[in-house]
Amino acid sequence: MHPVLDLTLMRKAFITGITGQDGRHLAEFLHGKGYKVFGMMKGQHNPRAELLRDEFPYVEIIPGDLTDLTSLVTALEQVQPDEFYNLGAISFVAMSFNQAELTANVTGLGVLRALEAIRMVGGAQNNPIRFYQASSSEMFGKVREVPQTELTPFHPRSPYGVAKVFGHHITMNYRESYGLHASSGILFNHEGPRRGLEFVTRKITNTAARIKLGIEKELVLGNTDAKRDWGYAGDYVKAMWMMLQQDEPDDYVIATGETHSVEEFLTLTFEKVGLGDWKNYVRHDPKFLRPAEVDLLIGDPSKAKTKLGWQPEVGFDKLVEMMVEHDIAYETRRLKK
Ligand code: GDD
Repeated sequence: MHPVLDLTLMRKAFITGITGQDGRHLAEFLHGKGYKVFGMMKGQHNPRAELLRDEFPYVEIIPGDLTDLTSLVTALEQVQPDEFYNLGAISFVAMSFNQAELTANVTGLGVLRALEAIRMVGGAQNNPIRFYQASSSEMFGKVREVPQTELTPFHPRSPYGVAKVFGHHITMNYRESYGLHASSGILFNHEGPRRGLEFVTRKITNTAARIKLGIEKELVLGNTDAKRDWGYAGDYVKAMWMMLQQDEPDDYVIATGETHSVEEFLTLTFEKVGLGDWKNYVRHDPKFLRPAEVDLLIGDPSKAKTKLGWQPEVGFDKLVEMMVEHDIAYETRRLKK
């Protein structure tokens, strides 16, 4: 039998949040590395299951939910993965203010349940399950130092950020208490054509494309002064995998080391779409302001560069270009349907 087709020889990866931007990039990346990929999905008749099956027929869908420990244990017993990537979360910061309790349960306690399930199922004696936690630069919130490193104190500014701090600390705690191979990637914002339309970058490139095609007239935004360290999601999932290939588990900042304001993102997008000055199209609406804002994020990825040999390949200009090109093509296709 060809070794790639022999399931017993293939390394197995279990991913929560499989239908999100990062889950899809990671599934593709790990499949390319010869892994058998399993994706956890919640609910009955989840409409995303069909989309996922069309896009990634090689991903095996496993039922389960981060709010249900038994389902996680059952999933791990069934899959017996080598690597567990916990990307599942309520990930939209704005929504976390309205659904704070749900966010704490899924984004925060979900990590604890994942770690407990690993403790219970364990994995093979000489091959314990390795765990990746998707920590977030949102934990730095009201930043205490610039740029932010693995040692910068946290000051979260949203229920989402608070839940991620819990997830980060409980991952460290289980590593230190039970010797789990558990690592956290403190990922700064990462975008791309697969980004959900609710996030500011994709909202901008998609609406600009729709304005260009005459489908929409304006783009309505909140705080355009905010600054973020924006990288490309495809680069960032590689860092997740690299962390789990290390002999020792650890925490790493994954960032580009550059920061740009929402206004800079607007300027570049509207230039690339060929609409000129974004101010002619953008309207401010306070409904998109958050009760507490994160004004400035900029990460220092030196540790990831030195210890993992990781560095981002797609810069800011290229990222905007990829997203704009994708959205023009995507909206044009939709118009023709
Ligand atoms: N979403 C959105 N919509 N954001 C807006 C808008 C708007 O209409 N107008 C201004 N913004 C501002 C937000 O206030 C924020 O300062 C910034 O744009 C970025 O917002 P998002 O794209 O929603 O991302 P985020 O930075 O809050 O969170 C993302 O990055 C985190 C890493 O730091 C998410 O991906 C999180 O899940 C992730 O952990």
